[in-house]
Amino acid sequence: MYTSTSLSETLRHRRQKLAGLIDVPAVLWSGGSSSRNFPANTFPFRANSHFLYFGGIPLQNAAIRLEGGNLQLFIDEPHPSSALWHGETPTREEIATRIGADDARPMAELEDYLENAATVSVQDAATWTQQSQLLDRWILPKNQLEGIDLDLAKAIVCLRIIHDEAALVELRKAAVVSVEAHKKGMAETGKSRREAEVRAAMEAVIMGQNMTTAYTSIVTVHGEVLHNGHYYNALQPGDLLLVDVGAETETGWAADITRTWPVSGKFSPTQKDIYDIVLAAHDACIEKIVPGVEYGDIHLVAAMIIAEGLVDLGILQGKPEDLVKMDIHALFFPHGIGHLLGLDVHDMEDLGDLAGYEEGRKRSDRFGLSYLRLNRPLRAGMLVTIEPGFYQVPGILHDPKIRDQYQYIVNWERLQKFADVRGIRIEDDVLVTESGSEVLTAALPNQANDIEDLVMSEKTKQTKQNLS
Ligand code: GLY
Ligand code: MN
Ligand code: MN
Repeated sequence: MYTSTSLSETLRHRRQKLAGLIDVPAVLWSGGSSSRNFPANTFPFRANSHFLYFGGIPLQNAAIRLEGGNLQLFIDEPHPSSALWHGETPTREEIATRIGADDARPMAELEDYLENAATVSVQDAATWTQQSQLLDRWILPKNQLEGIDLDLAKAIVCLRIIHDEAALVELRKAAVVSVEAHKKGMAETGKSRREAEVRAAMEAVIMGQNMTTAYTSIVTVHGEVLHNGHYYNALQPGDLLLVDVGAETETGWAADITRTWPVSGKFSPTQKDIYDIVLAAHDACIEKIVPGVEYGDIHLVAAMIIAEGLVDLGILQGKPEDLVKMDIHALFFPHGIGHLLGLDVHDMEDLGDLAGYEEGRKRSDRFGLSYLRLNRPLRAGMLVTIEPGFYQVPGILHDPKIRDQYQYIVNWERLQKFADVRGIRIEDDVLVTESGSEVLTAALPNQANDIEDLVMSEKTKQTKQNLS
């Protein structure tokens, strides 16, 4: 389906396709970074993803103008003093050659080329203000897009949602490195005292490849906190460690993997029971992936398997179909089954639901469906995550109203026996192919016994070394 191309050819193909979709010029800014306490000490810079898609490299304070398949680059030459602090950097002409620009100019000239131009807003306030000032209208973020900006956003979605070969090369690189990071995290757990040490070992693998993390890593014994960003907890033998860590390549392409493993190297019987339900949901969802299938239906497959599993364990009472209709599964699986993945971990969510939701569809206000981030029929070339989970969120399960309302559906006493399962998630990155799917992160085991082996292997080695 795909053939190999160089960066400038890839970018040319992308803008030619864009030219087929809109008939106004598109101007995309890369954005800038802001400084902390003095100008040279800046927060990490990340170029805007739409810019990266058509501009190819993470330039700072640059813009590109795309019209009829042509590319104009706007960027200032580095200040003469810059070489002292930052070394030699490529000139405007060198950058233009690398990305195949037809024309390259200083930023100050951009305003002469903005007539009737469409754009989408960048991430940082300073550049966003500049966009609005230069275009002489408010550039509205997310769901407030309108007019030619909305047309441009729709055209961008149309292209970015189906990955081309160059994108897939990068996405596979991110997946490989993320798999290695997870294996390292499993191996290091036995010798780590705190979550922070496991995180450090994993991120070292990613940084060692000159990549960065695609999102704030989650490495926590409190997996019930869905986006837990703390790493100070001690690792105790009975804990499960929920680890959601993904790499981002130098040109911005992401992976997103979660595994949950026992700190001791051995799941307790209760942990294993729930783990196997989540894994069954994960496997059944991936099994269903094929072009044409509704992603919302895949979410419901996971909901049903989780409900069935919890009924089998005696935690829920009732018919699984009825429980899912009543959103009971969402007491334990409150998020959607996944999302689009690409240049961003929740790809294109800066455009609201424009990418995630098929035209004419709106988010449901049902508890069990409102966090569904993707609601479209799948198509070959889409990359999605599949990430079912089970969580005991105190804010949900300790709510007296909920406990009372569901007293005949949830066996609260039985649930207490599973107190050592605070949070489990299993997440893989799945490419939709012409005939089904390919799991880009399949090299990372997810069966409970394989995970136990990976966690134990280093521990066993250590013990042997200590004994010899
Ligand atoms: N890593 C964030 C997520 O899985 O959605
Ligand atoms: Mn995810
Ligand atoms: Mn994730």
